[in-house]
Amino acid sequence: MQSVRIHAFGGPEVLALETEPTPDPQSGEVLVRIHAASVNPVDYKIRNGGYVGEDRLPLTLGRDISGVVEGCGPGVEEFKPGDAVYALLTPDRGGYAEFVAVKAEDCAAEPASLDHVHAAAVPLAALTAWQGIFDHGGLSAGQRVLIHGAAGGVGHFAVQFAKARGATVYATCSGQDIDFVRSLGADEAIDYKNRRFEDIARDIDLVYDLVAGDTQERSWSVLREGGIIVSTLQEPSKEKAAEHKARGARYMTKPDGAELGEIGRLIDAGDVRVEVGKVFPLRQAADAERALEEEHVRGKVVLKVA
Ligand SMILES: NC(=O)c1ccc[n+]([C@@H]2O[C@H](COP(=O)([O-])OP(=O)(O)OC[C@H]3O[C@@H](n4cnc5c(N)ncnc54)[C@H](OP(=O)(O)O)[C@@H]3O)[C@@H](O)[C@H]2O)c1
Repeated sequence: MQSVRIHAFGGPEVLALETEPTPDPQSGEVLVRIHAASVNPVDYKIRNGGYVGEDRLPLTLGRDISGVVEGCGPGVEEFKPGDAVYALLTPDRGGYAEFVAVKAEDCAAEPASLDHVHAAAVPLAALTAWQGIFDHGGLSAGQRVLIHGAAGGVGHFAVQFAKARGATVYATCSGQDIDFVRSLGADEAIDYKNRRFEDIARDIDLVYDLVAGDTQERSWSVLREGGIIVSTLQEPSKEKAAEHKARGARYMTKPDGAELGEIGRLIDAGDVRVEVGKVFPLRQAADAERALEEEHVRGKVVLKVA
């Protein structure tokens, strides 16, 4: 099969289209013929050498896939060849490829209303948003949430999940994304380059932080007592949390086929839409990563494989 691998850390030029053996599905795994794979910031962060050691090289990048089950290992009962599935891969396997063996428990049926390109845009970004605002943030109907980075891959799902749950949503984004973020359901879309969110958002139950740094630091002042900052990037300061009688958490997203199934039902019900900003063929994975890392992209960047 063809796959895009790296043999050294560096810029997009280290991504190389290569031929390697097609994996065999082991016990509890399905072999998926990949139709599309999406690109996430973690891919270029690994490629740049920030996340894993040289002992992992060579490696195939990519955590998100959609495609069709080609075969099943022993013990798989949920899926059969021909089923359309999507999944967040564990970090030990790669999605920029024609095939991947995936744990069946990490897969879910692809939403019937999506094509493969849009389905591949969902798993990592949507599971991150779901786990951040519900599993870690405990967001419930009637609460107030402030989402930083609302026009990106994760943020655009977080806004829609929070609205579907019945929360009031404040969201920060660039000026060019204001209408987009409003169209996702945000009650207040705040241009972070021209307005201070502290002047607009008050008594917030949950700050969902996809930006970190100064943005996280400034967010303590908008929380209500007992509120929480949940970040994908930076552990919130325990001292600041105590000072503001609030809480903080940082987490890593985990594959979860059951949650992905629930997200798929919201998509098929028309409650959540998937924004794909750019699509590239697999052989242009370097251009796709460059687009996400260096340009302004609204929503997700996807690789079309088949
Ligand atoms: N811990 C985990 O397991 C986990 C999982 C998923 C993602 N992450 C991390 O979470 C972050 C977001 O992921 P993503 O996929 O959504 O990235 P993305 O698609 O690149 O989106 C990031 C968004 O943040 C916006 N932004 C940048 N600075 C901002 C600011 N000061 N205020 C408000 N918005 C700002 C960007 O807009 P402009 O382009 O207009 O600046 C962009 O729309 C990444 O750093 C990623 O690595 C972590």
